[in-house]
Amino acid sequence: MNCRFLACAVLLAFVASGPRLASAAEPSPAGEEMTELGEHMDRLSGAFRKLRRQAGDPAHNAASLELVGEMREAAQAAEKLIPAKAADLPEAERAKFTAAYRRQMGRLLAQLKDIAAAFDAGDNAAAQKRIGDLADFQKASHREFRKTKP
Ligand code: HEM
Repeated sequence: MNCRFLACAVLLAFVASGPRLASAAEPSPAGEEMTELGEHMDRLSGAFRKLRRQAGDPAHNAASLELVGEMREAAQAAEKLIPAKAADLPEAERAKFTAAYRRQMGRLLAQLKDIAAAFDAGDNAAAQKRIGDLADFQKASHREFRKTKP
C-alpha cells in the first residue's frame, strides 16, 4: 500500500514538473526564443516602463536619471550583440543589417542622453515629450530589426 502511494506520489511529481521543464526555453510573447540581446532588452524595458510612469513628476528626477542610466547600460550591452533576425538573412545582407542595427542603437543612446539632459535641467515637459518619441522609435526599430512573428 505504502509502496503504491509512493509510486503515485512520484508519478504526480513527474507530471507536475512537466510544464515547468517545457517552459525553460519558453519563447517570448512575440514567439522569439530568449536571447542574450532579449535579456538586455527586458532590462531596458523594465526601466523604461518605470520611467514613463514617473517622468512628469519633478520629485522623482533623481530616480528618473538613474533609470535612464540603467537604460543606457542595457543599450550599450545590446549594441555589441547581433539580432537573431540576422541569421535568417542571406549571408550577403548580414553585415549591412548589423551595421544598420548598430547605427540605430547609436540613435537610441543619443536619445537617452537628451532625456537625461532634460531631467538634469528640471524640464519634465521636455523629458516627457522625448520619452513619447522614444516609444515610437522603439516600435519602428522593432519592425525593422526583430524577427517577424511566425
Ligand atoms: C526604449 C527602447 C526599447 C525597449 C523598451 C525595447 C524592448 C524590447 C523588448 C521587451 C524585447 C523583447 C525581449 C524578449 O525577448 O523578451 C525586445 C526585443 C528586441 N529589440 Fe528592443 N527595445 C527598445 C529599443 C530597441 C532598438 C532601438 C532596437 C534596434 C536598434 C531594438 C531591437 C530589438 C531586437 C532585435 C529584439 C529581439 C531580440 C533578438 O533579436 O535577439 N530594440 N526589445
